[in-house]
Amino acid sequence: MYHLECIECHRKYQPTDVIYTCTCGGLLDVVYDYSNIHITKKDLKGPLSVWKYRALLPITREPISLHEGGTPLYRVDRLAKSIGMKEVYVKHEGMNPTGSFKDRGMTVGVTKALELGKETVACASTGNTSASLAVYGARAGVPAVVLLPSGKVALGKLAQALMHGAKVLSIRGNFDDALKLVRDLCDREGFYLLNSVNPYRLEGQKTIAFEIADQLGWRAPDRLVLPVGNAGNITAIYKGFREFKRLGIIDGVPKMTGIQAEGASPVVRAIKNNAAMITPEDKPETVATAIRIGNPVNAIKALNAIRESGGTAETVSDDEIIRAQQELAALEGIGVEPASASSIAGLRKLVDMGVIEKDESVVCVTTGHLLKDSEHVLAVCPKPIEIDATIEAVRRAVYSN
Ligand code: F0G
Repeated sequence: MYHLECIECHRKYQPTDVIYTCTCGGLLDVVYDYSNIHITKKDLKGPLSVWKYRALLPITREPISLHEGGTPLYRVDRLAKSIGMKEVYVKHEGMNPTGSFKDRGMTVGVTKALELGKETVACASTGNTSASLAVYGARAGVPAVVLLPSGKVALGKLAQALMHGAKVLSIRGNFDDALKLVRDLCDREGFYLLNSVNPYRLEGQKTIAFEIADQLGWRAPDRLVLPVGNAGNITAIYKGFREFKRLGIIDGVPKMTGIQAEGASPVVRAIKNNAAMITPEDKPETVATAIRIGNPVNAIKALNAIRESGGTAETVSDDEIIRAQQELAALEGIGVEPASASSIAGLRKLVDMGVIEKDESVVCVTTGHLLKDSEHVLAVCPKPIEIDATIEAVRRAVYSN
């Protein structure tokens, strides 16, 4: 029903092969025999979830699942008005079991590890991937090893990885260093690598597109805006929309629009310079630690997705990210972590620049929950007002500025 194929040299691999990249070094894609897949809108009735789309997922055994997917798509009219737009939605992936979109990839990836008979799973992570791997590893009864950049992981994510029993290694280096190390570790020890270079992860994440199409009444928005770090998610969502178009479920594919932090923006620079490939950044830095990545492994796929779809890429400053996070929280009641807020900040900037038209329908993907990074919240919000336990003191404080 499917095989793995190199996006560069088109060499094919079998589902039983344990391989992450082609022998030529190219990234792999999962390719289905679409002539044998017949899905209609009628087949897709019922509640949303990743496993609803099983016919388009490369798994045969019973999944390791915590009911991932089925996240809300909120229409955000107050925010839209503040930006000067008419139709804006937020797909809040922070509402997944571990609080980020990574669960969609991990339910598929950890299930694949079991299908392949793997006994240990591993990843490098800026935080969310490690939290998700720890949880799905626990659910599967398989040990997980996670490599994190020391001192640069939000506490909520670290807490999850620790509590769910992963072997947590804090690397004196950044995410890109940790990814290089874990790839070597997996090759040497036979651990199953569950970073987004593993094409099965992206298969789970493409279901974000399927759900958005369903939630909008079987159509794609004009544009999709999302944060880009290791560049897997933008690739996955683009694939999801393309598959639904190919199967005749929707008519079009949105303009894929990737947002990076100013201090970690190799993909944006490649798009602006019209370069075939990114130039890695040695010292990525941003308040949005989830996307503090200088050498995104899926860059080639992401550049394709942005260019083919007629999208674009833009940077936002840390201040713009924080402002967008506060605005989404206060105006709409949607709490997201800084990386996720970059999608909102990017939308505002691109509208102000005249790149995004005011009458486009736009979906912003907010990738992780506010509570992932509460340390950051305490750093940017006013402190609680401490007062005596008397009604006079309470009233004075309530009416003070
Ligand atoms: N938003 C959040 C909250 C993330 O955690 C990540 C990636 C991204 C956006 C970017 O997605 O890498 O597919 O382009 N976090 C990874 C991690 C790197 O280790 O948790 P991407």
